[in-house]
Amino acid sequence: MANPSILILAGDGIGPEVMAEVKKIIGWYDAKRGITFDVSEDLVGGCAYDKHGTPLHDDTMAKAQDVDCVLLGAVGGPKYDSLDFSVKPERGLLRLRKEMDLYSNLRPAQCFDALADFSSLKKEVVAGLDIVIVRELTSGVYFGEPRGIFTEGNERVGINTQRYTESEIARVARSAFELARRRNNKVCSMEKANVMESGILWRQVVQEIHDKEYPDVELSHMYADAGAMQLCRWPKQFDVIVTDNLFGDLLSDAAAMLTGSLGMLPSASLGAPMANGRPKALYEPVHGSAPDIAGQGKANPIACILSFAMALRYSFDLGEEATRLEQAVEKVLADGVRTADLMGPEGGVPVSTSAMGDAIIAALDASL
Ligand code: NAD
Ligand code: IPM
Ligand code: MN
Repeated sequence: MANPSILILAGDGIGPEVMAEVKKIIGWYDAKRGITFDVSEDLVGGCAYDKHGTPLHDDTMAKAQDVDCVLLGAVGGPKYDSLDFSVKPERGLLRLRKEMDLYSNLRPAQCFDALADFSSLKKEVVAGLDIVIVRELTSGVYFGEPRGIFTEGNERVGINTQRYTESEIARVARSAFELARRRNNKVCSMEKANVMESGILWRQVVQEIHDKEYPDVELSHMYADAGAMQLCRWPKQFDVIVTDNLFGDLLSDAAAMLTGSLGMLPSASLGAPMANGRPKALYEPVHGSAPDIAGQGKANPIACILSFAMALRYSFDLGEEATRLEQAVEKVLADGVRTADLMGPEGGVPVSTSAMGDAIIAALDASL
């Protein structure tokens, strides 16, 4: 049987720097666990634009549809700020999500004990935190029509449309309820049903799916603005949060700071099952290309490494190996190894991106 396949799209800025550490870990699984992946690499984002004049070449899109999963680093950067909107680096990522139909984006926010002191929130608020935001990823205001910048009378008007169909809401709701059943059986759905019709429909459909198919799961509803407040006030009240594309984008960046750094947050974007029974999938850190630190060897690779752990679990059914990798990360943090973003006001000497990767490999070795 062929080896499982991975397409790596490292992208721009710190993307290739953090992905280099994931490649070391893929090499470790091959050498030390006899788990071999067929890895291919290609371009996405600004680097693809530089080479092909488009942030995602059709051939790359076709490859992404053909592999067991895609690992993505990050896209974007100031060099591309003045490009036409249609070829901006971010459009490449959005095309991947849309054409692979990756409607369920799992963004776990977990506070490792060793970092509880480091969060900008009080230790007791974040210690032991373990929640997952399930963000709808292929619809909503990111993709709704009409959209564009138009002229009305003598001024310009910018238009985006928040649009959700019943089936789009239902499928992401199911994904959240299924996840909750494997966790603490609790879902909080967030929208703004007080001001948006799409929010009213969201609330109705989530409630209907719950009542018909998941009555055993505890369900609550919250307005997304209040949800943002509650995430900062007492995040441990949540288990699984399900929300739309834009609210999920904002809430997951906020949740990142509960864990100490944006450099810690992984994500899995999942679609419908493929012929092998595993979901179509793309794994990527929640953070971006971090132009302010790119090229300096300062980036924290943990978000990207934990995204690979999610790939082991969801795409390759290697839950025990995923846990091994997560525990290696936990051990390294407990040992006090820190990249610059994890340095508190008391200071200390940060390690480089590659030294963090090496420390995690050493912890993997120690796990054998
Ligand atoms: P960003 O996430 O790139 O950076 C925000 C801040 O967090 C910066 O100060 C950065 O240095 C820090 N940071 C992020 N990741 C880090 C890591 N791994 N280690 C240490 N520090 C880290 O967000 P931004 O500055 O708003 O966006 C920069 C570019 O990235 C933009 O072009 C944006 O569109 C793009 N972006 C891409 C993705 C993606 O590819 N999935 C996600 C978010 C933003
Ligand atoms: C994210 C990013 C993307 C988004 C951008 C880069 C398109 O912010 O993955 O969180 O807005 O979804
Ligand atoms: Mn974002």
